[in-house]
Amino acid sequence: MDAARLRAAFPVLEKTAYLNAGTCGPVPAAAHRAAIEAWRMGTEEGRGGPFYERLIGLAEQLRERYGAVLGAEPADVALTSGTSDGCGRVVAGLALGPGDEILTADDEHPGLQGPVIAAREHRGVTIRAVPLAELPGAVTDTTRLIACSHVSWHSGAVAPVAELVAAAAARDVPVLLDGAQGVGAVPTDVAALGASFYAGSGQKWLCGPVGAGMLWVDPAWLPRVSALAPAYGGLDSPALGLGSALAPGARRYDLPSVDLAVLAAAVAAFDVLAEAGLADVQAAAVARAGALADALREAGHDVVPRGDTTLVSWHVAGGDEEAVAVRDRLAEAGVVVRDLPGTGRLRASVGGWNDDDDLQRLLTAL
Ligand SMILES: Cc1ncc(COP(=O)(O)O)c(C=O)c1O
Repeated sequence: MDAARLRAAFPVLEKTAYLNAGTCGPVPAAAHRAAIEAWRMGTEEGRGGPFYERLIGLAEQLRERYGAVLGAEPADVALTSGTSDGCGRVVAGLALGPGDEILTADDEHPGLQGPVIAAREHRGVTIRAVPLAELPGAVTDTTRLIACSHVSWHSGAVAPVAELVAAAAARDVPVLLDGAQGVGAVPTDVAALGASFYAGSGQKWLCGPVGAGMLWVDPAWLPRVSALAPAYGGLDSPALGLGSALAPGARRYDLPSVDLAVLAAAVAAFDVLAEAGLADVQAAAVARAGALADALREAGHDVVPRGDTTLVSWHVAGGDEEAVAVRDRLAEAGVVVRDLPGTGRLRASVGGWNDDDDLQRLLTAL
């Protein structure tokens, strides 16, 4: 990996120690250019046939790229607006009802909690939440869905996916992984993971625009997940009208519409990372995040137990209020991290594009 070349692709890194890819990755200049060109085309040439041909072509290019990073067939990947969207489509699409239990972890993101809460309010589903590490032992005969993070957004811990999948398979229960802090950050070979669904974001570790995301659906589960809003691209033969069937693969779960600029920027951003070598970018990020965790501990900070991931969280004495104050003080010093409301923690997200100087700036500003 040419680290200097990768770093130079991101204008925000010229001045800022940007450590916030867990919220939104840095945007490469190439993605900015691609988005501008998409809007130029629509503005100057109109949004007719060529515009839509380009849009459809880019959607398939993006599906291929997301398939590649997930180790999946593109046909099994839906284009969504993000992780929350993907989680929502799965939870709402499964035929869950009264008496069915969704088993989840107790520190999940609202993007996963929201669909689960909706299933409780609208369909009488029961929710049971336990610590992420304890999920495999918590599966029971009433569990109908296990929904949890691949990587915890609060701690950077990795879910015990292998044990969880084994416990779930014994009861024919699907596992939905919220991969917001997984895909692009750590290896995400869906075949190796063995879950039934993997929802991910395009705007975080893949550095794309807000509004890009993916949902991988194990083909074995396709018949058991209703498509909520299949539109033109979600149908097999839209010209047949009501005679059409749903699209054969995960395309039936695609967003009904998406802006050309979103697709163009997502593809361009992905290609910046692919050129550097995604596996190398991930390995560099995980190693540097580990070094940051060590350095924070040495400096006396209370680092939250984590896994080999790209997130590092630590407690701030004084709780939420003080965490926000420290976050803002860091931002003034040109260091971008986030607070985690309700936990009194700050979180740094370390990418393969960050360097030692970024980490040093954080440590010094703290
Ligand atoms: C674990 C987790 N799940 C879901 C989300 C929401 O992702 P998105 O904005 O792509 O829906 C995030 C981040 O915002 C997250 O960290």
